[in-house]
Amino acid sequence: MKKLESREDIELLVNSFYDKVTKDETIGFFFNDVAKVNWANHLPKMYSFWESILFGQMTYKGNPMAVHFPINEMEAMEVKHFDRWIELWKKTIDENFVGENADMAIYKAENIAKLMAYKMEMARKL
Ligand code: HEM
Repeated sequence: MKKLESREDIELLVNSFYDKVTKDETIGFFFNDVAKVNWANHLPKMYSFWESILFGQMTYKGNPMAVHFPINEMEAMEVKHFDRWIELWKKTIDENFVGENADMAIYKAENIAKLMAYKMEMARKL
């Protein structure tokens, strides 16, 4: 098993992850039906996002929280959805990578997911 250390590794991770996500019964519909994601746009953003987080190369310029509010307005993004997101993320990492960056990718995603779940819940109460 290899370490997560290059842009190519991130591309493999992100591609394999969204491959699972789009086929998933619990969260696939957000991407396929609600947001109708343009993958040619979305995937490179996600490569840059993770490259920025893991390697400190600030190639991602965006607001990751903001894009989720309109989706949450169309279909509530609930804790069970974030739990599933994290489960698939962990599974994809465990299937492909080991080491510090792999652990960090899980740790960071868990924190962001927790914060995002909270913000989405708060937004629904406004
Ligand atoms: C149930 C959980 C989640 C769902 C359903 C979801 C769904 C989506 C969708 C539909 C998009 C927009 C794609 C597009 O049309 O361009 C998106 C973008 C994005 N998501 Fe999520 N997401 C979830 C959780 C997360 C988590 C936990 C993270 C971070 C660890 C994350 C990071 C991002 C980023 C960085 C973008 C790109 C933002 C940009 O356009 O700059 N998402 N997400």
